[in-house]
Amino acid sequence: MLRLSADMNCNLAVPRHVAIVMDGNGRWAKKRYLPRFFGHKAGVDALVRVINACADRGVEYLTVFAFSSENWKRPEDEVSGLMGLVLVAVTKYLAKLARDGVRIVIVGDRNAVSDRLRAAWLEAETATQHNTRITLSVAFNYGGRWDVVQACKQAVAAGLTADQITEQALSGYMAMRHAPDPDLFIRTGGEVRISNFLLWQVAYAELVFTECLWPDFDVQALDAALADYAGRERRFGAVTAAPAGAGGG
Ligand code: FPP
Repeated sequence: MLRLSADMNCNLAVPRHVAIVMDGNGRWAKKRYLPRFFGHKAGVDALVRVINACADRGVEYLTVFAFSSENWKRPEDEVSGLMGLVLVAVTKYLAKLARDGVRIVIVGDRNAVSDRLRAAWLEAETATQHNTRITLSVAFNYGGRWDVVQACKQAVAAGLTADQITEQALSGYMAMRHAPDPDLFIRTGGEVRISNFLLWQVAYAELVFTECLWPDFDVQALDAALADYAGRERRFGAVTAAPAGAGGG
């Protein structure tokens, strides 16, 4: 990890797009002798805090990993608890998020979720579609490899020839096509891996890993991650730093 002193060429900009793996809910609950569900519940409250703090700091896009394609392998009661929690959270927070100017977009395979959850997602997207303060993308039943495969399938179905399949063309079929690539990728909970999140899009993201468990991730922890990002030099594969405002990732 390259760290630069203040007189060097630092990119002090706020990241346009922050992506977060919200890990550590289960351990947070265990430390308190509570069932894992309570960790996820506290995780929802942390998320609501972070959405507003990001918006206040000028982050335009926030993308969170709420349920991975692999999370179906968890015990049945935890999966159904999470599904129920998400439904309740949408009902509880939608009006507030809509009022706060948050646009909600769901990314992932909706086929496997219940009709009720699908309807709640649609309601959340429709109710907030014209909001512009920040775009919250919730990755749910999402996997980075799933996304690449579904994008390829769409490109083939649209009749693209091998020559027409370019990085730019494929990006247009990705589930995250509504957003620039993440500038900053944060993972809480101490694990140091990507875990199949936004594989295509994080190619040039700055990575920040923290021991902090997701329900404890507060405004100070967010600011520390943003400060870490601000101290990085982004080169996008070149020798010198990219010009200010270059790309979205
Ligand atoms: C990982 O912690 C966390 C999850 C699998 C779920 C994250 C989901 C939320 C915070 C709810 C999101 C809600 C909405 C409405 C978008 P873990 O269970 O793997 O924790 P551990 O590593 O400590 O076991």
